[in-house]
Amino acid sequence: MSRELFEAARAAMTKCHAPYSKFPVGAAILADDGNIYAGANIEVLSFPEGWCAETTAIGHMVMAGAKRIREVAVIAEKLELCPPCGGCRQRLAEFANADALIHLCDADGIRKTLRMDELLPHGFKTEVIG
Ligand code: THU
Repeated sequence: MSRELFEAARAAMTKCHAPYSKFPVGAAILADDGNIYAGANIEVLSFPEGWCAETTAIGHMVMAGAKRIREVAVIAEKLELCPPCGGCRQRLAEFANADALIHLCDADGIRKTLRMDELLPHGFKTEVIG
């Protein structure tokens, strides 16, 4: 399944819309329903309005009715490993338990795996979400 997740992230990366940064990123989520939801970064001429690959993948997962993230794979064409940005860490943490796995990939496969609580220690929490 890890290989499948990696392949989904790599395939998603080719769908990026990144004409400004020319920095393609792909992400794929293995959700609690057993399905994979993928996404790429999508940029906008008004630069701050673009969003990350992880965010696209989360949107796909939520709209399909899946609730929780079990694993995520992230890949960037031009970076050896692409750790999710700060905002995406908080978005992933919204849907991932502390022991969910975040796989950082290069062109050949998964190179490094972190738990959600390693990727985002001391993340923002309130009693509302426990
Ligand atoms: N990007 C992602 O898609 N995910 C990340 O975690 C970091 C950055 C995208 C945003 C932008 O389209 C491009 O990479 C360059 O910053």
